[in-house]
Order: sequence, then structure tokens, then C-alpha cells
Amino acid sequence: MTIPFLSRSRTPAEDQPRRTVRLFISKDAAAVAVGAETVAAAIVRSAAATALPVEVVRTGSRGMLWLEPLVEVEIDGVRYGFGPIEPEALAGLLDAGILQADLKRLLAHPASLGPVDKIEYLAAQTRLTFARCGITDPLSLDNYRALGGCKGLEKALSLTPAGIVDEVAKSGLRGRGGAGFPTGIKWKSAHDVAGEQKYIVCNADEGDSGTFADRMLMEGDPFLLIEGMTIAGLAVGASKGFIYVRSEYPHAILALKAAVAVARKAGLLGANVAASGRAFDLEVRVGAGAYVCGEETALLESLEGKRGIVRAKPPLPAHKGLFGKPTVINNVLSFAAAPFILGEGAKAYADYGLGRSRGTMPIQLAGNIKRGGLFETAFGMTLGELVDDIGGDTASGRPVKAVQVGGPLGAYFPRALFDTPFDYEAFAARDGLIGHGGVVVFDDAADMARQAKFAFEFCAIESCGKCTPCRIGATRGAETIEKIMAGENDEANLALVADLCNTMKFGSLCALGGFTPYPVVSALTHFPDDFRRPAPRLQAAE
Ligand SMILES: Cc1cc2nc3c(=O)[nH]c(=O)nc-3n(C[C@H](O)[C@H](O)[C@H](O)COP(=O)(O)O)c2cc1C
Ligand code: SF4
Repeated sequence: MTIPFLSRSRTPAEDQPRRTVRLFISKDAAAVAVGAETVAAAIVRSAAATALPVEVVRTGSRGMLWLEPLVEVEIDGVRYGFGPIEPEALAGLLDAGILQADLKRLLAHPASLGPVDKIEYLAAQTRLTFARCGITDPLSLDNYRALGGCKGLEKALSLTPAGIVDEVAKSGLRGRGGAGFPTGIKWKSAHDVAGEQKYIVCNADEGDSGTFADRMLMEGDPFLLIEGMTIAGLAVGASKGFIYVRSEYPHAILALKAAVAVARKAGLLGANVAASGRAFDLEVRVGAGAYVCGEETALLESLEGKRGIVRAKPPLPAHKGLFGKPTVINNVLSFAAAPFILGEGAKAYADYGLGRSRGTMPIQLAGNIKRGGLFETAFGMTLGELVDDIGGDTASGRPVKAVQVGGPLGAYFPRALFDTPFDYEAFAARDGLIGHGGVVVFDDAADMARQAKFAFEFCAIESCGKCTPCRIGATRGAETIEKIMAGENDEANLALVADLCNTMKFGSLCALGGFTPYPVVSALTHFPDDFRRPAPRLQAAE
């Protein structure tokens, strides 16, 4: 007996072997935090249950954090995005035919974003450093090479050490860790000094509020950092490097350790880098868990196994750094810019940006903002464009009150300063800093007196204790702001805060004490009403 619908003759299309459908889901910590692991596992289970040929590729993040978990499917060479797909929303996406790559039905899905490359947030960026992030499996060296990886290293191996330093200097690259010091000058200092043993140290302590670019890069494209550090090693004659990663970044630590092992096995690290006869190897070290351990000299102390206390300068680390040896210490993003600079040439990098701020900056939009994430762009966009147009204004829907740029030591800018271009000098001219590129947005519920007090408290808690203006000043500052908030002797206490800030700014040994006045003074200057009695927001909040 034949059952009619089973005996139906098969169409030619059905006789074709099914092509594997490729899905992409980020394994970045920010995606994992909102359920990416659960979503990926459920997709794998569904594919197995239906015997559909599906490959799930775990990538780094695209940096559009409000869309995570983001699920992408490749159809005819184009990647279509769906997000956010929280675990509870997955059934709908499966029903819409994600496993079958049924484009017509998928495009009608409410979370459909269309081709990922065309999403405005991504399309508006200039991704030089984050070019590969979110696209590939971060630990596939083949993918890395296929997408332009190792080109910078190859070029570096064809140059003299001085030639590499020169190229980096000509690019105009400035340190992305906060101080914006020219990277070429730093490398030249370490290159010029004699030394049997020199070191390369990567500062991956990333302690600034609202920042995550280092983490995203280490998780999403770890070979880029390895390549950048290797280039630095070749430039200054260092055979050994350390990556000091904050302990709160377990995913990045795992990714880096795995990538170092792959690179070593492939001969990119070790005694004979890329068969060049030159040696360079790397070790990943976990940070001690203090904000001040991000300060370069405290970091070196910590790396040597001691308590993270700031060293007096000079000597500069380039002359006498780790274990007393000449050391180049740079931020993750500074090293990660080097492969592009070498691979494409200094001019290609320097053509982006404005004034003395050359190249691109991976800006991190955070806090009370609708479209939080990483936005890499050439220097020069205004703060207003970044917050309003790119970030889409506040997540709460209330008006923006203040934006703190540059981490906990950065100034609070009101809307009146939104025309400030993202550029080291433009921010400095308005008593601000761009630091590591963190942009934290506050709406009108924020109490700026409280924020000023928090700045002092943060400094008091994180101070290494070596110098008096910071160790004592921060505590006195927090107490004095509290008195102002309570309406005690306002005028005298405001004058005291101004005096204290002056002493900390000019008398502190490092920028922790020296820059704490920036958030305090900017809050006082731009939001004086919040410091007057009665403090309305404070009372409403309490
Ligand atoms: C208190 C304090 C914390 C810092 N934290 C970091 C950090 O987490 N990451 C970083 O790259 N630089 C940090 N810096 C800046 C470093 O001291 C140093 O300038 C930087 O690592 C140099 O690298 P770059 O030239 O590539 O920016 C910090 C500085 C201070 C004063
Ligand atoms: S300013 Fe603060 S953190 Fe910096 S050296 Fe002085 S006490 Fe230490």
C-alpha cells in the first residue's frame, strides 16, 4: 500500500543536497550577559533535532550592545541580523525559518534588522582597529589572515627597527589609554636606549567607567593585539611581552591565553617569529583589581609581584621599567592600531582625524543612552552628534543633563558644550579630557553634587596612598561636599573645595589625584544649582 503524500515524486530542488546554513552569534561577554550562550545552545539543539545542516559560528561583538543577543544568518553572501533575540524570543525566530535561511519570511520578523553591514550605526563607522571584530571566529588564525591579519607584521619584518618606529611616529598615533602621549616618541625612547633585555607591556586594566573597547578587542580579535605587540617588540628590540588584564575580564583572559597558544604553535610567537630569526613571546597576567594598577608605574610594580603603588618619574618606563629594564607600556588600542599603520602605511592612518588627533578612536557610548555600544570613528565628530544622533539620546527618554567623557576622572559636560569635537585638544581647551574614549550619559534625574562627592570618594578609595594631596585631600573633599549638600556654611566650604582641587591638581604625583578635580570642578561650574540648598534632586531621591 502506498500512502499518497509519501509517494509524491521529489522536485529537482529537493534532490539537491541542502547547503549548510551559517549562523553567527557573538560570544563576547556583553552578549553572553544577556543570554547569547542560551540562544546559541538552543539553536544547535533545534538544528540537531530537525537534522538541518546548520553551522553556528561564535564571533566577537559587532559592538551594537543594545541589539544583543544578535543572531546573524548568511544568505547568498549577505549577513542578515536579528536582534535582540533573548532566549524567550528564539522560538519566533525558529518559526520564521532561521534554520532554513528562508529570507522572505525572515525579513518579516519583527526583530529583523536587514543586512548587518547596512545598519546605520555600523555603516557610519570607520573601522580600522575593529575591522574584523564581530565577523570571524576570534581564535581562527586562518580567518584572521584571510581578512588582512599579519600584513602589518610582514611589513614590520621587512623594515629596520628604526623604520618601524618612524612609521608609527608618522602616523600621529597617540596613546589610547588616557594621556594621549605620542606612541612613536615612546617607542623611539625605548629603541634608542641600550639594553640586553627590554619588555613590551600591554595595559589591559581598563578601569575607566563606561569603557569596554579593550575587552571587546581582546575577546573579539585577540590576534590583532598579539600582532601589535610583536611589532612593538621588533621595533624596540624586546623579546618578551606581558598583557596585564583586569581580573574582572575572565572571557578576555581565556581568549588571550588561547590565542597566544595558537600563535605560538603557528610560529608567530616564540624564538623565531614568522621564520624571521627574531624572538618575541607573550604572557598573559591577571591584574590585582585596583583602579590605580592601571597607572603605568603602579602596573609595573604589580606585574613585579608587589603592591600597586605609583613610582615617581623619572626614570620613565622606557628607560627603566619592568624589573628595571627598558619597557614600552601601551594601552590595548594603541598596540592594536599598529598593524593597520604598518600594513597600510602611516599616511593611510594619519589621513583620518583632525589637528593633532590622527586616526580613529573607538568611542564607547554608555550610561543612560538608547544605543549603547562601540563606535569607531575618525576624530572630529562632536559630542552632540555622538550622543544624540549615534547614541539616540537617553534610554530613559528624559533630557540629557550631563555627559562624563574620559572615565571617572573626566569632566561633566552639559548640553551647552555638545559642539565640542572629539579631539584631545578641543576637550582640553574646555577643561575636559577624552581619556580612553568612554562617554557616560546622565539624564536630568542626576544630582551633580552627588556626582562631585562620588568623584572624591572614588579617589579616596582607589588612592595608592603615596602622596598627601590625593590620600588626604580626597577624603576631606568628600566630607566638604557633604557639608555643602547639607547647606552647612556653603560659601566657605565651596571656597575650601576650590582650594583643595587646586592643591590636588598641581600637587599630586599621578593623574588619579591630579585629575579628580575635573569632575568636581566641572560639576560645580556647569551645574551650580545642584550645590545650592535645598538640593531638590537629592531630596527627591532620598
Ligand atoms: C589612575 C590611573 C589609571 C589608569 N588606568 C589605565 C588603564 O586602565 N588602561 C590604560 O591603558 N591606561 C591607564 N592609565 C594610563 C597609563 O598610566 C598610561 O598612560 C598608559 O598605559 C600608556 O599607554 P598609552 O600611551 O598607549 O595610552 C591610567 C592612569 C592613571 C593615572
Ligand atoms: S595621586 Fe594618589 S594614586 Fe597617584 S601617587 Fe598620589 S596617592 Fe597615589
